[in-house]
Amino acid sequence: MTHATQAGGDIDLEPLRKVLNEQFKPQDFQDAQELILGACQEAQHIYGYVPKEAAQAIADHLETSINRVYALLTFYADFRTEKPGKHVMLLCHGAACYVRGSARLIDDLKERYGIDESNWSSVTTRDGELSVQVINGCLGVCDLAPVIQVDHHDYYGHLDVERFNDVLSALKRGAAVEDQNGAD
Ligand code: FES
Repeated sequence: MTHATQAGGDIDLEPLRKVLNEQFKPQDFQDAQELILGACQEAQHIYGYVPKEAAQAIADHLETSINRVYALLTFYADFRTEKPGKHVMLLCHGAACYVRGSARLIDDLKERYGIDESNWSSVTTRDGELSVQVINGCLGVCDLAPVIQVDHHDYYGHLDVERFNDVLSALKRGAAVEDQNGAD
């Protein structure tokens, strides 16, 4: 997906303003929260996250406060307020993945990238390559445990630390990873 930024990385607000003007008229919504959430979802769809400039544009358009917009952005885990890395990874730490060694993958990530565990809800590595979220629920593919999801659609399963590092290295090189699920 192409996201709307201008040269130099500045946020191009025109696509968002167009959507806000066309689809987010306060009189069409009974509920102000629904209105703000819908606008934030559109912003995240356009930019891949909700940058502060977009949050301010939403607040201005809906004549509400930036604090109210941020209260909703931070309440719902689906929203990102930081620019995601080139790749987005969900690392499952649900029961089946935990039993099969997801903690070792987390330790490996911490060591590899110097990540502080307190930030697991959304961490982007310093090189901007990877955003990681550790999921304590379940990714719904327990037969692949322990498993990660990359860029919303690719699953890599039956991971040990060695294969996990192979996947990370391949992502960094932009190479395809064969044998996604570790079949012998
Ligand atoms: S617990 Fe990890 S996929 Fe179900």
